[in-house]
Amino acid sequence: MKALATTVMGLLAGGVGLAAESAPIQEQVSIIPRPVELHQRVGEPGFAAAQGLLMTQEQMQDPFCAAAHAALVAAGVPVRVVPQGTPDLTVCRDTAASNAEAYALDVSPAGVRVSAASEQALFWAAQTLAQSLLKDAAGAPALPSMQVRDEPLLPYRGFMVDTGRSPLSLDELQKILRLMARYKLNRLHWHLTEDQGWRVEIKQFPRLTEVGALRRETPSMAFNGKGDGKPVTRFYTQDEVRRVVDYAHSLGITVIPEIEVPGHSSAALAAYPELGNDDMPGYAPEVMSTWGVKPYVYAPKPQTFAFLEGVFTEICELFPRADIIHIGGDEVPRDHWRRSPAAQQFMRDKGLTHEGQIQQHFTNRMADFLAGKKRRIMGWDEILEDGAIRQDAVAMVWRADNGKLTRAVQAAKMGHDVVLCPTFYCYFDYSQGKEPEGTDFYNAIGAHRSTKDWRHVYSLNIQLPELTEQEQRHIIGLQANAWGEAIHNMHKLEYMCFPRLLALSEIAWTPAQLPDGSRRDADEFAARLRAHLPYLDAQRVNYREESGKPRLD
Ligand code: ACM
Repeated sequence: MKALATTVMGLLAGGVGLAAESAPIQEQVSIIPRPVELHQRVGEPGFAAAQGLLMTQEQMQDPFCAAAHAALVAAGVPVRVVPQGTPDLTVCRDTAASNAEAYALDVSPAGVRVSAASEQALFWAAQTLAQSLLKDAAGAPALPSMQVRDEPLLPYRGFMVDTGRSPLSLDELQKILRLMARYKLNRLHWHLTEDQGWRVEIKQFPRLTEVGALRRETPSMAFNGKGDGKPVTRFYTQDEVRRVVDYAHSLGITVIPEIEVPGHSSAALAAYPELGNDDMPGYAPEVMSTWGVKPYVYAPKPQTFAFLEGVFTEICELFPRADIIHIGGDEVPRDHWRRSPAAQQFMRDKGLTHEGQIQQHFTNRMADFLAGKKRRIMGWDEILEDGAIRQDAVAMVWRADNGKLTRAVQAAKMGHDVVLCPTFYCYFDYSQGKEPEGTDFYNAIGAHRSTKDWRHVYSLNIQLPELTEQEQRHIIGLQANAWGEAIHNMHKLEYMCFPRLLALSEIAWTPAQLPDGSRRDADEFAARLRAHLPYLDAQRVNYREESGKPRLD
């Protein structure tokens, strides 16, 4: 009756309001990540979606409704705007929600009601609707009658691409962003600089890309192979960076840039050798064409700090919405600082007693500089090891000694916000199973030994029993890292990351214990995952099949 009333009203208003009841829908929705609450009226008619969801031009005058429209279009939900009529979609802002990404949906034959805490939350409501498009008993597209109430467990749900080592094209980055948005991941961590290449144009320092982006060749196998003889020259112009950032924004994703300081800086020092410890015997930085931790680190001198501040100034302009800027900080050998007379003099001048405090100095200097630009820093967990750093610095905890999250516990107890990416669970360059030996494609960390497949990722418990409730709130995020030593191209990246990334998205979003008393569960996830394979196929994603084979040749 309601549907009929809506339709008649639509016609009376002179519009084309055709909200229509679908035939019954037997299929159950399979949403990933699993919503906190979902009640589907299986077997009942839903909303017939063949004509798209109708919105009116009057609605589009309202910025929040217009944002809902943009989110639906971005998610691929069919929607039509007509001059007048009765809309199928009602949108309201939930001003009482405590979680900024919370949303609720009510779908019935009469239409769809969306309530969202913010524009950001509208993106996730739209993605849930996109995943809910099913076929009714007559084979027509329809949204099932259902109610959803949903919000993420963690505010930072990330994925890292290592374009420093293995650049990706803009199309590939955009594909990654679309897939992230589909699964409600909201931070793309863009690793832009490495020993093996500097990949972002910085106008004040053109040699960074003229020299620093040029690598002679790439080792063909993960860690021990010979070079392939093919030069790599790719970097991202500032226009290209802006395109990626804007595209991400159109999908509800923030891009977090990473510029490595003070280590992993061989490519920068190849471009500007005077920024390194050039008073040291044998100093000869180059863009590295082998893998492994390299000894080249920035020197603690005024021109280096001026350089870094210049770089981060341009980075802040390029990434206006990045609330956090990643400054690296991992794997910093101290040898050059030990052997450089100037670095030793710096230590005496500052009263530093060990070389690690030079890293602490770099970290705090960058943190203070970026705080002046209203950004906080994030760094790999090593940034916590050499003395106090700004309290608002975020620790990205990667080192998982024997699979334990001890370092995350320590960081949270020190009062730092933490994004978890423990190697054993979140390093997607780790092998997924006992794949065949001897090919570049299957080579991965722990290849042929470890089985870090999606079930393993799903088993990660991010509720840390050592933490009080207050301390647990410092665990703000979870991230997967696709490092570039073993992942040289998109074909392999997809194989290594799908479906593991879907498992990661669920544990970042959905609490282990749900309000209806059930628990998040790997077998139940597996059933939903199967329902997502046609979508991944349609997107031509080279995911890892259950058998271990790549989906695409
Ligand atoms: C890292 O894996 N070096 C952060």
